Amino acid sequence: LGRSLHLYDEIGSTQDAAKRLAEEGAPEGTLVIAEQQTSGRGRMGRSWLSPKYKGLWMSLVLRPNVPVLCTPQLTLLTAAALCRSLRRQTGLEIGIKWPNDLLIDGRKISGILLESSAEEERLRHVVAGIGISVNLEPEDYPPELRSKAVSLRMAAGRPLDRTETAAQFLESLEELYDIYRNDGFGPIRLLWEAWSVSLGKPAVLKTPQGTVEGVPLGLSDNGALRVRTADGLVREVFSAEFE
Ligand code: BTN
Repeated sequence: LGRSLHLYDEIGSTQDAAKRLAEEGAPEGTLVIAEQQTSGRGRMGRSWLSPKYKGLWMSLVLRPNVPVLCTPQLTLLTAAALCRSLRRQTGLEIGIKWPNDLLIDGRKISGILLESSAEEERLRHVVAGIGISVNLEPEDYPPELRSKAVSLRMAAGRPLDRTETAAQFLESLEELYDIYRNDGFGPIRLLWEAWSVSLGKPAVLKTPQGTVEGVPLGLSDNGALRVRTADGLVREVFSAEFE
């Protein structure tokens, strides 16, 4: 992964560039990195703060030969791979908030945006966008983000080598991706659950089908969140925001 590298000083969004390359047939592992994004995109149509030289803003083309239904598994896999590499590099207690935000003490350090294209129920390609706030300083954040977001540098008390962060993430992703393709989602699920900070605590989840209140228990094998509701039933939630 990452052997075909497109590096930009400045770009609108690495995600849009990588999607274009994927549509044009770019091979699996094609990676777009930018020093700065002028219109970085987050989930749910939000924008993503991407100041110059301060973070890792990248998008990776994957071509797993799996059904569309497996897309949630790939999101969780990317989060588990990133959590693992960042924990190794920094020694910090980094947790995963379902499905794929990485947090330190409740504040977000990275976000993942997966976009896919499918044909007849099979995935044609997936573009995994990864934003890691590596070396941002407090003044880089607008006031409204200061209580919600933090950088690795602020949490660790020292700047980090962004090249190292990227290299370790790609290595970790490659390893978990191989495991996923050979042994399925089971082992990935265990890693994700071990680092999750979303399990075992009552939560209110806003899903496209309405609000679900209950205690998240873990993941199901298809990558949904299993939530025990007040009536004692266990429901599977595929897409939701924590309130
Ligand atoms: C989120 O909302 O948490 C997801 C954020 C994803 C940000 C990354 S940065 C690289 C890639 N390019 C984008 O425009 N977005 C993703």
